[in-house]
Amino acid sequence: MIDELRIAELMGAEVEMFIQKHPQSREESFNSQTALLGGVPMPWMKRWAGPFPIIADSAAGGSIVDIDGNTYVDFCLGDTGSMTGHANAPISQAIAHQSQRGFTTMLPSADLSWVANHLTDRFGMSKWQFCLSATDANRFSLRLARQLNGKPKIVVNDWCYHGTVDETLVILDRNGETVSRPGAIGPQIHPGLTTIAVPFNDLAAMERALAGGEIACVLMEPALTNIGIVLPQEGYLEGVRQLTKKYGVIFILDETHTICAGPQGASRLWGVEPDMLVIGKTIGGGIPVAAYGMSAEISRRVEDLMHGHDLDVSGIGGTLSGSALAGAAIRATLTHALRQEDFDIAIPLAMRWSAGVQATIDRHKLPWTVQQLGCRAEYWFADHPQNGAQAAASVNDSLESFMHLYALNRGILLTPFHNMALMTPFHSDSDVDLHTAVFAQCVEELMS
Ligand SMILES: Cc1ncc(COP(=O)(O)O)c(C=O)c1O
Repeated sequence: MIDELRIAELMGAEVEMFIQKHPQSREESFNSQTALLGGVPMPWMKRWAGPFPIIADSAAGGSIVDIDGNTYVDFCLGDTGSMTGHANAPISQAIAHQSQRGFTTMLPSADLSWVANHLTDRFGMSKWQFCLSATDANRFSLRLARQLNGKPKIVVNDWCYHGTVDETLVILDRNGETVSRPGAIGPQIHPGLTTIAVPFNDLAAMERALAGGEIACVLMEPALTNIGIVLPQEGYLEGVRQLTKKYGVIFILDETHTICAGPQGASRLWGVEPDMLVIGKTIGGGIPVAAYGMSAEISRRVEDLMHGHDLDVSGIGGTLSGSALAGAAIRATLTHALRQEDFDIAIPLAMRWSAGVQATIDRHKLPWTVQQLGCRAEYWFADHPQNGAQAAASVNDSLESFMHLYALNRGILLTPFHNMALMTPFHSDSDVDLHTAVFAQCVEELMS
């Protein structure tokens, strides 16, 4: 319904406005080309709208200021890393305090034992270990699952994202074969050797994959969040749980993004009990930490392996995992953020954001939809997708880039990978209403 020529016509003016507003970011980005690979410290940062990334100066609560002095309502929040709110004061203080007492010692700290107990109360897993990123937590979980049941392959959802774990960077091709997803750089081996991808919300495909008898574990998000938000259909997660039990396969849920559903994540909210659970990004308030938990039975079996001279080369853990700094950061985060009272503020904001977007969609009778999961919401240029492939098929790059740049030029940052907004308790109704007004104005211009 939106004319490509109209997008191109409006885009020129937006790029011009962006350049005018960001002279220092432009200069700094130019300088960054000298020694930063691709001009950025991390490739995803090239996905931001505009001809160069804006350079951040500072961030607090739900906003970011760039080096040109522009202030933004930040609905990206470090792609969930800062869901607690940027520079959340008690977390910053705990980190500052710990920084005077040593960052890392290769010794346990009392904080992480407190954190493990707290995570057990929240998520219901029996025991926990720590690492630096959700990618690591997934990788270690897969490794343990293979060790425990001796099977060679894993199952993930088509179009999933679980970090840079090689064997999860897959999609199904037209023939239903599991292949590397577009954009994956340097897959080590053909991923079909390690992985079977199955569409989300398809229990029959899941059963076919598990029935082959070569699957160690299923790794999935309770709702897809990385190719749009795709919610599980009634009975889907319970069905996967039953199938994994039937075929003796370990069921791992990655709650790194779905923690947006509430303080205990989506699995407890929806009454699904995995064998292992991964949580990363936000649990350290933005400090690189993650955790993976496991049932009593699995932890007992893993503990049987945790002895001997060669434990340091077991392939699990890392030098900086479970550091004193990590312990202080996670303890403060779980004490002062991500609580029910925080979600009681952030979830209504996401509902307000969704209602604002929906009103414009309805006014223009657009075939678009809004999806919300807790304090995360997203608009999509299609009907609600039921699986990753349907979501991927409705991506419209030029429209998405235009709408992101339009929002950015008017003081709003959306997550650069899709049209996603995440709320913190530090956002306000007026932040959300700004987005509603800018979204309405943008669509108005596109349709005129
Ligand atoms: C569901 C999920 N799991 C794991 C990861 C990996 O997190 P990290 O990049 O912090 O390792 C991501 C990143 O987006 C994610 O969305």
